Amino acid sequence: MSEPVIGIVGGSGVYQIEGLEEARWQAVDTPWGPPSDEILTGRLGGVRMAFLPRHGRGHVHAPSEVPFRANIDALKRLGVTDVVAVSACGSFREEMAPGDFVIVDQYIDRTFARAKSFFGTGCVAHVAFSHPTCARLSGAAAAAARATGVTVHQGGTYLAMEGPQFSTLAESRMYREVWGADVIGMTGMPEAKLAREAELCYASVAMVTDYDCWHPGHDAVDVASVIRTLTLNSANARALVTHLPGVLTDRPTPCPCGCDRALEHAVMTAPD
Ligand code: ADE
Repeated sequence: MSEPVIGIVGGSGVYQIEGLEEARWQAVDTPWGPPSDEILTGRLGGVRMAFLPRHGRGHVHAPSEVPFRANIDALKRLGVTDVVAVSACGSFREEMAPGDFVIVDQYIDRTFARAKSFFGTGCVAHVAFSHPTCARLSGAAAAAARATGVTVHQGGTYLAMEGPQFSTLAESRMYREVWGADVIGMTGMPEAKLAREAELCYASVAMVTDYDCWHPGHDAVDVASVIRTLTLNSANARALVTHLPGVLTDRPTPCPCGCDRALEHAVMTAPD
């Protein structure tokens, strides 16, 4: 067992951690440029925490412009072991209603305008990714979410789209009926891929804000509806974060899911 350092990547509506002790915003430099913002570090319930607002304070980075590599690298440099990503999403399932939290365990990556790997020319690596999230950390995130009293769905497939426009009706129906996606958002990828390459445990909490545009009984998604639900739910998201230290006091090492050894058999390039 070892002590975790919990990293929170906050999405729309989550811009800080409440009750953090020894709190300070820290600038972190990376070879991939600056992260989305400074990182708020401190302790909560005795556990070290690092919080990064994915879109920056004031929501200044569009989904396609979020510096995902710098964000994950910066958290790694601060010693983070467990990343819990919080984001808004649309729902393709009647039962995953606005206000509910979905603990994502699969992805369909439809993004195309983002750097998706730390590797490339000079050092080629292919990490295993059939199970893109850490089951141990996802269980803890689900427990923390349940402690807030919110309805939690454990497991769900997240369709990551490029945006910034929302989907057409034809796309929404295809993602839901043909591809079997459960939720849709613009920021889940490549964050999860990069966390795996960085050998970080990663869990994703998607907060449902709307039914996208497929649902005949609901208006098509727009920013106003997303913000309305987020405003009602950001208190639940912040409460989830404050419950995390209580369910994550000890971290089994090595990680039973193998997240911390993702690069062990991944590098193809011969050493010099
Ligand atoms: N974020 C919140 N709702 C969304 C939706 N319907 N599509 C894409 N991103 C979203």
